Order: sequence, then C-alpha cells, then structure tokens
Amino acid sequence: METTDLVIFGASGDLARRKIIPALQTLDGKIKGLRVLGAGRSEMTTGAFRQLVAEASGNDRLASTADWIQLDYKSQDGYEDLRKLIKKDRSVVFYLATPPQTFADILAALNASGLSGREAGHRIVVEKPLGQDAQSARKLNAQLGELFSEDQIFRIDHYLAKDTVQNVLAFRFSNSIFEPVWNRTMVQSIEITAAEEIGIGNRAGYYDRIGAVRDMVQNHVLQALALVTMEHPATFDPADIRKAKLELLRAVEPLDPDAAVRGQYQGYLNEDGVDPDSRRETYAAARVQIENWRWDGVPIFFRTGKALRRQSTEVVVRWRDAPQLAVAGRKQRPIPTLLVIRIQPDEGITLRIGAKRPGPRFEMVPAGMKLEYRRLARTPLPDAYDNVLREVMAGGHTVFPGGKEIERSWDIVDPLIESWESDGHPELYEKGSWGPGAADDLLAGRAGDRWVNSGDEPGTA
Ligand code: BG6
Repeated sequence: METTDLVIFGASGDLARRKIIPALQTLDGKIKGLRVLGAGRSEMTTGAFRQLVAEASGNDRLASTADWIQLDYKSQDGYEDLRKLIKKDRSVVFYLATPPQTFADILAALNASGLSGREAGHRIVVEKPLGQDAQSARKLNAQLGELFSEDQIFRIDHYLAKDTVQNVLAFRFSNSIFEPVWNRTMVQSIEITAAEEIGIGNRAGYYDRIGAVRDMVQNHVLQALALVTMEHPATFDPADIRKAKLELLRAVEPLDPDAAVRGQYQGYLNEDGVDPDSRRETYAAARVQIENWRWDGVPIFFRTGKALRRQSTEVVVRWRDAPQLAVAGRKQRPIPTLLVIRIQPDEGITLRIGAKRPGPRFEMVPAGMKLEYRRLARTPLPDAYDNVLREVMAGGHTVFPGGKEIERSWDIVDPLIESWESDGHPELYEKGSWGPGAADDLLAGRAGDRWVNSGDEPGTA
C-alpha cells in the first residue's frame, strides 16, 4: 500500500483513544509509512500526543512519527499548518471523529485550504450521527458531495464491519438451502435485538440529545435488517450490495408510532448530565413492515436499549410451525424452528429444531445445531474498528453504507422521532430487565407471542 497520512480530527477525544488509534496497531507494517496527524481544539504538545498514541496503540513507531496540530475548526490558520505537514506524494485520509456540528466548518476549511478535492485523491471518513433527521442528512451528503466523489467518502457504521454481520451475506447467499425458505410463504416473523447491559456511562451530553432511535435504530438496526431481508445482490461487490440494501430500505414503511414502544430505564434521570425532566428514550422497539414481494405481511420486530438484562445482539428468523401430529390421540406441542444469528457475544448461528427425546416415548424436545463462529477463526475475531480502518486504507467500501441508504433510513425513523419528541413520555423499565412491558404487547398474538431471548430458550444457547 502507498504511504498514508491519517489526519484524525478530534484525536484527543474518546473515540480516537478507545477505537481508532488502537486499531492502527494492526495496520502498521501493512501500510508503508503510515503516519498519524492529530488535529483538534485541545492545547496539546506533539510530545503529549505522541504519548497518547503510544498508550492507545502500543506502537512506538507510530507514536514517534505522530504530530499534533492545534486548530480552531473554523479558522483557516491551523489548516495552513496542516497543509505544510502533508507532503505532496502521500495519500491522505481525513477522519472526522468530532461532533457533527463541526463537520460543515471542517469541510469548508479543508476546501479553502486546498486540502480537499476530487483531484487530490484524498479520502474522508465521517462518524455518526450523520444528520439529526432526513433533511440534515441530505444537507451533509450534499456538502460532502461537493468536495469529494462518492468513492472518496467513507461513512462509518461499525456494525457493518463486524465479521458476524458480514457473515449474514455469506450465510444467506452461499448456502442454497436457505434462500428458498427465506420469504413470506415460510417465515412467520423476524426479530432483531440489540440489547446492551451498560447504561449511558458518561455520555449524557451526547445521548440525552440523541436517544436510542438516532443512536442505534437509524444506523445499526436498519443496516442489519437490510442485510437479513434484501434481495440477492448481483455480485458481492460493494456497489451491488449497497444497491440491494437501498432497494430493500425503499420498501420499508416509515415507522408507525402506534406500533412502537419507547422506554427509559429507571435511574436515567439521575445520571450525571441528564436533564432531570428528560423524556429521551433509552429503549425503542417497533414493528416494521416491508412492502415487497418477498416480505409482504411478515411482521418484523426490533428492540434496542441500554441497561437491559444482558448484552445480546441477534437476529431471530422464525419459520411457520409444522402441522402438529398426534401420538396416541395427544397432539405434540409445537416447537418453532428458529434460526438465531448471534452477532455478539457468543458469535455464531444456531438452527433450533424439534427432535425426539431419546427413549421409549415419542416426545418432542427443542434441540439445536450450532455454528460457533470463533472456532472458524485462526486468530481472535478482530474489533470492528480494525476492519473499518483496514477498508478505509485499502479504499474498499464493503463495510460502509452509501449516502442514499443513510437518507432513506432517516426517512424511516423520522415519524417516530417527531412523534416522540412532540408528545408523551417513555415507559419506565427496571435496569436489568428486558425493557418495558409494552414491548411484549407489540408481539402479542403474532410472532409467537413473546420475544426470543436466546440463551433462555432451550436449543438456542
Ligand atoms: C454505538 C452507539 O454506535 O454503538 C453506542 O453510539 C452503543 O451507544 C454502541 O453502545 C454499541 O456498539 P457495540 O459494538 O458495542 O454493540
């Protein structure tokens, strides 16, 4: 690979320290002369930044070549210093790990200082939230599009960079036995869960303005949903995958507040920095309708939240029950056939089936066939940010959503956000529970009447 300067705006911040700089360790050596330039408002010496890089990456070579540029995002002066540091023969990746309010200023200043531009061949990486709603997302995309061509822009959704999420594509489209049963004729319902055990930690400043729908649903949940339900792409090339996801998202009906549940964990209002009257949701669940040939009439549910029973991110596909046959005049209880795709933790895929309990009686019990994803790996599973950075450096787009997908995802969630911001209160739920009781009612009479919590379900652990 070519020599690259990685300019991280907001490099002294939490994201850079915890995720971006540590991921560089796995890249060093693969990218000739990789150099980190930190840019931000903090008063910091280059020595102190080098120390930060050394601690976060554990890599002395990276640390010793790192540089810090202090700049006011709005003012041109700092960008001049930056321009002088960047040598002509190097390719440059600008990584905006800053709050979204700064994006417009940074883009304008990069442009004015001649650092951006299609001709320059530089790349730009932006972190979520990419907009606050559909309108602001379109504006941001237009700004990016003025300065960079689409293949120079990398919009991060770190869920897409998880190996287990990429494996959804491999699983669906490389095994011919599943596609024929992946449709409204055979599937009874689909559930997507992204549950976190942790609360908001020290992120009140961000989270209390954002909430679960903007933080998780607009991006991670809808991207996972798209991969699970989209049509097969023409090839596995990023452009074809994006096209298939976008088509699917176009078929998703904007969310209906009457088929959605918002929750807030008890104690949220006492978290440091949270507005004591906050109505912000820390939990969101909803029924999604996909109006297309494959999924018409199949209920699809998602739920996501903080401070829940345990961390669990998974997709559950439930097939229609088989007819229940009788044994000696008694009907066997149905055992739903479930496919559980566990994104994290305990990464893997379980096919939950009914089997005969060994012994003289004919009795059905739930059983499972399990793929343990870690066993396939020769090395420990990489962190999503390792994959993100590797792809950016290689110029690949496999793990990044396209701009149009992001706009469409906002179209889908906007009605829910508008309704919740204008009216009503979230239902409180206990920390360590599975969320508000109303979320169970969402499923009542439909999917199988209750959410599948794999691990609690025999055969799915
Ligand atoms: C981030 C959200 O995008 O994803 C966080 O901002 C959330 O609130 C995180 O905790 C979850 O990511 P992961 O990889 O831990 O599931």
